[in-house]
Amino acid sequence: MNNTLTVKQNEYKTSFINNRRYLGNKYKLLPFITDVVEKECKGVKSFADIFAGTGAVSSAFTDKVIITNDLMYSNYICNYAWFGSEAYNKQIVIDYVVYYNFLSDIQDNYMTENFSDTYFSRDDCAKIGFIREDIEENYKMKNINGRERAILITSLLYAMDKIAKTCGHYDAYRKGAEFDKPLELLVPLAEVHNNLNNQCYNEDANELVKRVAADLIYIDPPYNSRQYCDAYHLLENVARWEKPEVFGVARKMDRTKLKSKYCTRNAATAFEELIENIKAKYILLSYNNMADKGNDRSNAKISDEDIMRILGRKGVVKVFAESYKPFTTGKSDISENKERLFLCTVTK
Ligand SMILES: C[S@@+](CC[C@H](N)C(=O)[O-])C[C@H]1O[C@@H](n2cnc3c(N)ncnc32)[C@H](O)[C@@H]1O
Repeated sequence: MNNTLTVKQNEYKTSFINNRRYLGNKYKLLPFITDVVEKECKGVKSFADIFAGTGAVSSAFTDKVIITNDLMYSNYICNYAWFGSEAYNKQIVIDYVVYYNFLSDIQDNYMTENFSDTYFSRDDCAKIGFIREDIEENYKMKNINGRERAILITSLLYAMDKIAKTCGHYDAYRKGAEFDKPLELLVPLAEVHNNLNNQCYNEDANELVKRVAADLIYIDPPYNSRQYCDAYHLLENVARWEKPEVFGVARKMDRTKLKSKYCTRNAATAFEELIENIKAKYILLSYNNMADKGNDRSNAKISDEDIMRILGRKGVVKVFAESYKPFTTGKSDISENKERLFLCTVTK
């Protein structure tokens, strides 16, 4: 991706895809992942990242057609901002960002009414609510296109993440913490012209793979019982902007429809169904096995035996650890390594 913007003077700062906190994001593992793909996968022209999260992994494969997908709308919006095939006007985005950063004395709105002095100060809540509403109104009035809308929402979500009084997720806020940093939007350095065949989806990966094929499908599901919709409910709320009722100390909305099967005891069944329906030459799986012994919440939901059995039915499987050493298929060999990649060369 292009790291420079050659427009206007220094009135704004810029951000890149990895400038946010996200549980399990693979940005730091990109050299490992790209190394495995380069050495082991031949003729890959399309790359599907079907549990895309931040989209960090897709960002390393922009020489190919990119397909992204995530169950959470907030991730879909960010992925569309980074990889969407619709072109956008950089100057329009810059003008909105500069304008939003100069806002002051804003009236009460959904955000102040529900979140004042929790994760954000009252004034920052007022700004977040105003900005999100303004983006929607300008989109409806066709002053901005879908990609510009996505980029502005992404800029807002990244700005919220920078200042939220949390440890990176929204299960709780730090009570009594000082609101020292004000909200500041940055201009995401997204390519104006991405591949016209790129596609971004917002659905259950198990449904998507029934319709969409790619040369390489990368799978990075949640591996423990921690639901992403719980950890990022507030970013999801602002991205969706349906202004739902929120509950409890953490001010969460109803998230029933956003729960992932991969965080439950049915994870192996879901994984089996996913793999059976996948249409790809290669399937690449990231699956963490560093269970915190004694803490059930962080225990991996799919065993290595199940992974090997399920992938083995689809083709030939090799396992790599971060140092790029292929392992034999014995469980004891692979379970010692925190970051593993399971590569299945599909034969069936
Ligand atoms: C480990 S994270 C992916 C991190 C990503 N590779 C990155 O680098 O940012 C898992 C993602 O899967 C998504 N997810 C969970 N269940 C899903 C499902 N059934 N279909 C699609 N996405 C799902 C979560 O919302 C979360 O963003």
